[in-house]
Amino acid sequence: MSDVQSKLWGGRFQEPTDAFVERFTASVTFDRRLYRQDIAGSVAHATMLCKVGVLSQGERDAIVDGLGQVREEIENGDFDWSVSREDVHMNIEARLTEIIGVTGKKLHTGRSRNDQVATDIRLWLRDEIDGLDAELQRLAEGLLTQAEAHADTIMPGFTHLQTAQPVTFGHHLLAYFEMLLRDRERLADCRRRVNVLPLGAAALAGTTFPLDRHFTAELLGFDAVAENSLDAVSDRDFAIELAAWASLTMIHLSRLSEELVLWSSAQFGFIDLPDRFCTGSSIMPQKKNPDVPELVRGKSGRVVGHLNSLLMLMKSQPLAYNKDNQEDKEPLFDLVDTLRDCLKAYADMMPALVANKDVMRAAAIRGYATATDLADYLVRRELPFRDAHEAVGQAVAHAVAAGCDLAELSLATLQGFSPVIEADVFDVLTPEGSVAARDHFGGTAPAQVRAAVVRGRQRLNAGG
Ligand code: ARG
Repeated sequence: MSDVQSKLWGGRFQEPTDAFVERFTASVTFDRRLYRQDIAGSVAHATMLCKVGVLSQGERDAIVDGLGQVREEIENGDFDWSVSREDVHMNIEARLTEIIGVTGKKLHTGRSRNDQVATDIRLWLRDEIDGLDAELQRLAEGLLTQAEAHADTIMPGFTHLQTAQPVTFGHHLLAYFEMLLRDRERLADCRRRVNVLPLGAAALAGTTFPLDRHFTAELLGFDAVAENSLDAVSDRDFAIELAAWASLTMIHLSRLSEELVLWSSAQFGFIDLPDRFCTGSSIMPQKKNPDVPELVRGKSGRVVGHLNSLLMLMKSQPLAYNKDNQEDKEPLFDLVDTLRDCLKAYADMMPALVANKDVMRAAAIRGYATATDLADYLVRRELPFRDAHEAVGQAVAHAVAAGCDLAELSLATLQGFSPVIEADVFDVLTPEGSVAARDHFGGTAPAQVRAAVVRGRQRLNAGG
């Protein structure tokens, strides 16, 4: 197949392509994944060419029927993908011509692979974005369900990974819900710029045929037509934006992963991950490893790597299309596949997560998490905050030395640190009292968490 005549562009060449160069420059091994979009784009292009009088109705119909047969062959596994035909576009076009004869050669009128490939990727990515958004939504729903179930569950809140103040587990999970909701907004925003039609830009300068690009856009469901032909064939901003979205989403998932890994350890013991999301060790019989969160955490590095690849791919590229751009596909495909898998794993796992409430509550108490509540109590009894801070610090030191919690100190002992303390102090020393007191918009009080879940459901549905 590597003789000069077999190439769709072979006319000006005197010798066949070097066998290695043929493989080196080919993209069909990976871009064949775009076959459906390539065919849909060609059907729309041929239909538009017919509308503007460049193709007859008979020619258009023959092309559309032939492409239908190509599609069937591909889906039945009967298609003979050939590296010497370089990419998905020329493989399909060459096969079309084999099937329908000379009319197949008219399909490429007023078109180039440069605007064709840009169209294919955008069509593909648009569909993938919708699938990714559905998984994001499913995970966000799982977080809301767990947050509702754990609106009252006490856990230690951390700063510097040191016990800080008690929070509710529901409140903690809702922090991730907020991140994911922003990720959904960013994805929807990215989709607006993906859904723009490049076709009609041809190689770079437009074409001499009277194309109706708005009609093509309508046929393919694009919201807009690319304004500038040079930009249309060379713009990969949309891929970089998607990669930036994917990176940030993975960073969020990796933070959650880190917490799940810590929390499921014997040292924390806050949660149990269901067995079906874990694996064992081949040597240590007692092990139950949190592989899913660990892998998601690890894959975040791979995704951020792809963002860097795409940015560096575009750096210093002169206008307009350059073959460099063929390198956009593998990172982009892998990004999308990785995100879909990670979001699916988390969306499946989230509702099944089991919280060990007693362990969480005990950890909050062990860490003197209500010390700030005691200081606030003293402030309400007219002590300046700095003095209150000092008095409570001494009380904590005393409790640490005595090996007990603040709430286990006697009233008389507590009064030794500040005479304004009375018996009602014990209300604020419980973690339940502490979280209930943070009862304002965005706070950790169970009532606030429940209200946030209700708002969360509305916001999630409004974004869908
Ligand atoms: N396989 C190419 C790509 O992925 C298609 C466009 C090729 N255009 C060209 N003029 N060689 O970018």
